[in-house]
Amino acid sequence: MTTDLLNIELRKAEKSRLAEVDFNNLPFGKHFSDHMFVADFVDGQWQNPQVVPFDNFSLSPALSSLHYGQSIFEGMKAYKNEQGEVLMFRPLENFRRMNESAKRMCMTTIPEEIFMGGLETLLRVDADWVPGTAGSSLYIRPYMFATDTFLGVAPSKSYRFCIFTCPVGAYYTKPPKLKVETEYIRSAPGGVGYAKCAGNYGGALYPTLLAQQEGYDQIMWTDAVEHKYIEESGTMNIMFYMNGKLVTPATSDSILKGVTRDSILQIARSWGVEVEERKVSIDEVIQGIEDGTLLEAFGAGTAVVVSPYSVIGYKGKDYMLPEVAEENSLSKRVYKFLNDLRTGRVEDTFGFMYKV
Ligand SMILES: Cc1ncc(COP(=O)(O)O)c(C=O)c1O
Repeated sequence: MTTDLLNIELRKAEKSRLAEVDFNNLPFGKHFSDHMFVADFVDGQWQNPQVVPFDNFSLSPALSSLHYGQSIFEGMKAYKNEQGEVLMFRPLENFRRMNESAKRMCMTTIPEEIFMGGLETLLRVDADWVPGTAGSSLYIRPYMFATDTFLGVAPSKSYRFCIFTCPVGAYYTKPPKLKVETEYIRSAPGGVGYAKCAGNYGGALYPTLLAQQEGYDQIMWTDAVEHKYIEESGTMNIMFYMNGKLVTPATSDSILKGVTRDSILQIARSWGVEVEERKVSIDEVIQGIEDGTLLEAFGAGTAVVVSPYSVIGYKGKDYMLPEVAEENSLSKRVYKFLNDLRTGRVEDTFGFMYKV
């Protein structure tokens, strides 16, 4: 059987696993929907796009991505609005960023019809997996890895692109504590920090573990040269509301250009909030907490959406962020607005939502 898009072959699961999932208790990234999309780049062309039951791959021990790291991914979400329609949040931004990552990692790029066609077909087939409960969504994981079988450091000629999805609930249950990292680095000028490549996350695990052993939840990365300027956090860009302005580190080749970050900046500007994208030093942030001019610090990313921090730990000292009056805080207003946009309660004047 083929679907209307792209002649994607569809092989449906014999039995849905939907009934096994408790949609009122959804841990992040543990339940996988019934199907996945797979396409292979072989002999210079994309071949065999198909939606098939979620299942294991059979892979060679010499698979080049396992040895030399040509592996990239994306993370995005779909929601159900109040009419029960499935909507994705800015998927074309993820498509563009995936191809930026592909170029940096010397991988083939993905044509829009493969990325979007695969995504839409998969979401139509697994539409029942998109949660309709408040705070929940369908997390979507597109990824691509090199599939040549050889030893030797060289770009692979073949790749597999795959998309699978997970129904998810809220990411953090309480405001996380951040440790400002001044020893290890995530990325450096000229490096791959702006690419969503697997190695960036592998390299972050050890420093994050050390921070967790000290009682923190996540790391606030600083620049690789001076450890003076703030970059981003685990899977979030970082924003501050200080001196009446929304201030965030300007993106560079060492920071991932977050889709949530861009969306929040657009929304804040439309509300008349002054926005500054520039270098933000950790000294300035600590000073702002101490003199009361910094009211909010929060992370922005697909998984968390908006996540206010409770503590910033710097050089052995914990700085508590003020508990901002609930409804007046910028982060709460933005969070509510994004939620309302996703569920269709406010008009999508930004054109962020993409109906499946
Ligand atoms: C390192 C890093 N920074 C920032 C983000 C936030 O980006 P987005 O808003 O596109 O999810 C992510 C998550 O994708 C990330 O992994």
